[in-house]
Amino acid sequence: MASDIRRVTEAELNEQKAYEKRVSSLLSQRYEEKPLACVVTYGCQQNVADSERIKGMLEKMGYAFTEDRHSAKLVIFNTCAVREHAEDRVFGNVGALKKYKLANHDVIIALCGCMMQQKHIADRIYNSFPFVDLVFGTHVVHKLPELLYSALTRRKRVFELPDIDGVIAEGLPVKRDSESKAWLPIMYGCNNFCTYCIVPYVRGRERSRNVSDIEREFRELVESGAKEITLLGQNVNSYGKDLTPSVSFSELLRRLNDIDGDFRIRFMTSHPKDCTKELIETMASCEKVACHLHLPFQSGNNRVLKAMNRDYTREHYLSLINYARELMGDELSVTSDIIVGFPGETYEEFLDTVSLIKEVKATSLFTFIYSPRVGTPAAEMDDPVSYDEKSKWLRELLKVQEEISAEQMALHKGKIFKCFVIAKGKLGDNYVAAKTDGNIIIEFEGDEWLIGTFQKIKVTEPLTFVLKGELIKE
Ligand code: 5AD
Ligand code: SF4
Repeated sequence: MASDIRRVTEAELNEQKAYEKRVSSLLSQRYEEKPLACVVTYGCQQNVADSERIKGMLEKMGYAFTEDRHSAKLVIFNTCAVREHAEDRVFGNVGALKKYKLANHDVIIALCGCMMQQKHIADRIYNSFPFVDLVFGTHVVHKLPELLYSALTRRKRVFELPDIDGVIAEGLPVKRDSESKAWLPIMYGCNNFCTYCIVPYVRGRERSRNVSDIEREFRELVESGAKEITLLGQNVNSYGKDLTPSVSFSELLRRLNDIDGDFRIRFMTSHPKDCTKELIETMASCEKVACHLHLPFQSGNNRVLKAMNRDYTREHYLSLINYARELMGDELSVTSDIIVGFPGETYEEFLDTVSLIKEVKATSLFTFIYSPRVGTPAAEMDDPVSYDEKSKWLRELLKVQEEISAEQMALHKGKIFKCFVIAKGKLGDNYVAAKTDGNIIIEFEGDEWLIGTFQKIKVTEPLTFVLKGELIKE
């Protein structure tokens, strides 16, 4: 089947800018002060990045922002479809807005993101949530000005959900949540069709942004003070395969590493089947690329990996980790995603996952109980193990990982790290939290103005999941 991926043209973007102006003048006629918009984001960093573009467009249209849904004239839920739990939360939160909408007819309730891109969900919203005014899919985010204009001026509800392979829209305005920490999407979509995963169905085919567009945005970020820039994609290791001429992810990293400035580059997510030795060598040799590899293995059992359509074996995964440790030593931090209770997985097969985590010695793990997704092959497979049993397995795994995390943390006692200070701390009022190159959190006593800067911290006390340290004054 021919792909219908395309780039949004300059003319289309100009059309949207004209709608931005129309919405802006409409709002200034309707309201004396800037109306408030509340954008609620669920799920992964790609959604966070999309929401930053949504807020960029809303700002141009004359909205100010609030976290409080009940004082907003526009509420947008940017949804996630990856597990049932995330979907349930959205339904609950949208339902809770019914009263507010009925008492305030000028309020617009909008839903977007991965969940909406599934037909059965959009149908349910259409039929059971009549107070939702606007629903738009993942491929038309750039058309928000036009869609919002329709929702504000027509009596009809607006549903815009094209089922296409995807678009690339450059040049949208971005309102970033943080000045010092930035998300930078380098590609969209996924071609892997892991049998449990809904993402390829709702985010379309893999498509890479041009190197020049990424470099331009990256330089702008560095110039405006970004210190930690995370490159985003469902599978960044296959970046650039669709470009002509093709470019490898390693090459992109090297080019970004060469840009002048004091910053750190992170990236996620990597897929073991496409993670090359060249990438590991590039991480080791590029001083601005963090020694942190988020490499999800999902399961430690080869039969389960095959049933998941992951296209690598446990042995291959371990060979990648061993090579990375060889080149980066203790500096390397590995994190991973794991699914417990894939359909048909036996307890013995689950134990292979436990034994793999003992070999990998990850700094931390993101663990999930399998959640059936409508329309994926795994949802049709026999799944005889109960949810309660799977929860028991998960608890067993977490206990093992807790010991491993504590062991890993203990290795760092006395070490000095260059850290990026990210937020207020949790260990006490006068603590701030910083992140090492390997994505480990160190808390130390320090002033809030340190947030957004790089500092040298000495580890004084390893705790189970974080480190305690002290600031080294230079
Ligand atoms: N059930 C449970 N976890 C899932 N993930 C993706 N799909 C599912 C599902 N159906 C997990 C995978 C992936 C992470 C982002 O979410 O571990 O790496
Ligand atoms: Fe989902 Fe697999 Fe694609 Fe990741 S690589 S988004 S788990 S299909």
